[in-house]
Amino acid sequence: MRSFSYLSNPVRVVFGAGMSGQVRDEVERLGRSRVLLLAGPRLREVAARVAEALGSLVVARFDGAAMHTPVEVTEQALAVLRENSADCVVAIGGGSTTGLAKALALRSGVDQVILATTYAGSEVTPVVGETADGLKTTRSSPEILPETVIYDVDLTLGLPLPMTIASAVNALAHAVEALYSPDANPVVDALALEAISGIASALPRVVADPLDADARGELLQGAWLAGTCLGAVAMGLHHKLCHTLGGSFGLPHAETHTVVLPHAMAYNASSAPEAMKRIADALGVTDAPSAVFDLIESAGGPTSLRELGMSGDDLAKAAELATAKPYPNPRELTKAGIEALLDDAWHGRRPATSPLAELDKLTAQVVASFGNADDRIRSLLTDLVRHLHHFAITNDLTESEWQHGIDFLTRTGQISDDTRQEFILLSDTLGVSSVVDLMTNSRTPGTTPSAVLGPFYVEGPPAAEHGSDLAQGLPGTPLWVDVRITGPDGEPVPGAVVDVWQSNEDGFYDVQLPDLDGPVLRARFHPDELGGLTFWTIVPVPYPIPDDGPVGKMLDKVGRHPFRAPHVHFMISAPGYQRLVTQLFVGGGDYLDSDTVFGVKEKLIIDFAGQNGPAPDGRIVDGKWRKLDFTFRIAKSQAAKSQAAETGADS
Ligand code: BEZ
Ligand code: FE
Repeated sequence: MRSFSYLSNPVRVVFGAGMSGQVRDEVERLGRSRVLLLAGPRLREVAARVAEALGSLVVARFDGAAMHTPVEVTEQALAVLRENSADCVVAIGGGSTTGLAKALALRSGVDQVILATTYAGSEVTPVVGETADGLKTTRSSPEILPETVIYDVDLTLGLPLPMTIASAVNALAHAVEALYSPDANPVVDALALEAISGIASALPRVVADPLDADARGELLQGAWLAGTCLGAVAMGLHHKLCHTLGGSFGLPHAETHTVVLPHAMAYNASSAPEAMKRIADALGVTDAPSAVFDLIESAGGPTSLRELGMSGDDLAKAAELATAKPYPNPRELTKAGIEALLDDAWHGRRPATSPLAELDKLTAQVVASFGNADDRIRSLLTDLVRHLHHFAITNDLTESEWQHGIDFLTRTGQISDDTRQEFILLSDTLGVSSVVDLMTNSRTPGTTPSAVLGPFYVEGPPAAEHGSDLAQGLPGTPLWVDVRITGPDGEPVPGAVVDVWQSNEDGFYDVQLPDLDGPVLRARFHPDELGGLTFWTIVPVPYPIPDDGPVGKMLDKVGRHPFRAPHVHFMISAPGYQRLVTQLFVGGGDYLDSDTVFGVKEKLIIDFAGQNGPAPDGRIVDGKWRKLDFTFRIAKSQAAKSQAAETGADS
């Protein structure tokens, strides 16, 4: 069982497009009325709009915020704040502006309203890192935590792509390290995983179209969640390493994060397997570090320390500095280990924590190969391949198991011919036919449910007269069938064609009996103008699906019986209506609960009522007979529905 303590940081968050327009309300909500507006020169236009929204509340402005929050800059801004008796700072920008707002709040107790324009996340943490005389000091306290954060997606639309990528990976790093933090807890885990999947899904879309507001929104939301993780739990190797590289070798902060993250993950992978598995699942891949590398590389972010200007001669020194002081991290920090990590990062090698790292690349290549197919085919094949690869990977499939699967499918094909369709049996017994069927059904609520077609339908059955006998003297309990076809509102359906088929008393369809010449127990009816039809047949019995092939072997192997609950098949077509393929099941029959093809639906179980005495058509029946009385409701075709909608008729 885990032990943890957790304090949630109380920040008011206002999120959405155009939300910066609410800035005045947010300041007033805090009971403040004298605003010092902080914004970097890059954001002059945005600052002008925010100033306009704040109106008379703005008493002063400061645009000198700098990276790493130098105390001399803070002192200057503090003087402006005091001269103007400001009681609130409104900061527009990323880490530097937010850092200044925090430093001011720490010294003066003013409230902070932050309008975040990057994905850095520091706006939701109670931490500030300040530099004085080249030395960085990090402080954490509740006063540092901003009161209100406004995430206006519109403010992020103009963030240049290189900054977008670096800042997004910075956010990703917060979520990744939160998952293997010594303070990890279920709340932060959930936020981190949501952040990871959101950032990974949104970043490629933002790269493809930086003005895609939905993708920007998802990215910003992921960044907020990741920032919340950063504010709640301690970070590890990745953050320390970036700190060292930035501080001692002058590397750019955000880009260093981008390069180092996959390698820090790879370093920790063997010591935090559970966290890596969760990250991989959130990314929809097998190997998390290489997937993060691929994400960055395909986004066009930097992947090597070399390209950031670091000298290869500094790697040993950097490893020494990074391991000088111990700090919590899943895997012990060794100088040799960190040097190897840095060597990989310097060269920009794709990290490979396991041989399986190649798998995600392989899946991506196969998916990319469908790039020219039309939309639907591409989407079906992509999903199929992803699921198949995932199946093989998560089950650790062996060569011989896969060969066994291929042999099974080969035998399934070899036993199939014009009258034996083993693939349908396979689809049916695995429930796939019924899945497709249930989805079909869900599109036409209020109509008679459909049921699987099965392999025994034969095109063009012989036409039969109303009242005729399909059994033609075959043994079995006589069954009088009296059914009618209506539309969804019970209206008669003219011009319907109804095909009926069923097995004999021994459980065989005619096509299974080679000695028969001609169709038996199957017919085509043309209902009368009210949609009605009647005929004689025999009461169906349960029967086994053909089980002398590979599907039968499979059922046997897993201890399943091969029986179908007793039923009669119907296929109903009519102009202007959708075709209905269904079955009516004998109420009280065997196997209704365990039909081997999962085809039984409650609404299709009918009382085939026992009868004595004369039959409706005057036939004298020797002994008992039964009656099936049923009304089929069939759905209108799409064309008929659209036409009805156009003419304003009731659809
Ligand atoms: C049938 O009802 O005819 C059937 C359906 C699925 C598999 C085998 C038979
Ligand atoms: Fe059947």
